[in-house]
Amino acid sequence: MHYSIAPSLLSANWACLGTEAQAVLEAGADLLHLDVMDNHYVPNLTVGPLICEALRNYGIKAPIDVHLMTKPVDRLIIEFAKAGASSISFHPEASDHVDRSLDLIRKHECKAGLALNPATTLDCLEYVLDKLDWILIMSVNPGFGGQKFLPSALDKIRKARALIQTSGKPIQLAVDGGIKLDNIYQVAEAGADTFISGSGIFHEKNYQQIINSFRSELNRVKK
Ligand code: DX5
Ligand code: ZN
Repeated sequence: MHYSIAPSLLSANWACLGTEAQAVLEAGADLLHLDVMDNHYVPNLTVGPLICEALRNYGIKAPIDVHLMTKPVDRLIIEFAKAGASSISFHPEASDHVDRSLDLIRKHECKAGLALNPATTLDCLEYVLDKLDWILIMSVNPGFGGQKFLPSALDKIRKARALIQTSGKPIQLAVDGGIKLDNIYQVAEAGADTFISGSGIFHEKNYQQIINSFRSELNRVKK
């Protein structure tokens, strides 16, 4: 299994976002995770497509994974795709027509994902598996960085991995929230392959060191 490490820019120093993004990529991150919050679907407000475009104009070539915590989603899907997003995930509760929104993401040549809140079951995936490139399991309630990992996510990751295996589809399984050096091993063992971490990476002084340590933990997982 190939493991991907995705620093969440939410915890970066936004006064110098370009250099922060570059620094984590040079330190070995595989992609960047961009949290979009609208002060409506979640009680926090972050950024729009302008920032995604600015990162591309700055020279960021790595995949940018956009996590929409907004309601509705369709107009932003189009705008983020135009702004250079590589993958876009949204919460099924935030779209009246989940199937159509997934189609819209792929139509704009991005990978399509669904993000599942801690209380959301896997049922919503059943009839859209062939339209999914990503499943994003939230291991905190969306809206803020620096929260504690909810252990109930582990069971959900196991079930999602089984679902992906049975489907035989090449769907990535990402986990978002509270990922730190002391739990990344457990999360990988449960079946995740993509690890989104904000404060776990950006609150460290040495990005290279923490990403290397994440990788050492991942190397311990029996494949
Ligand atoms: C939370 C966001 C996460 C957040 C994770 O709503 O979706 O991506 O940045 O931050 P940490 O890793 O600090 O929990
Ligand atoms: Zn996120």
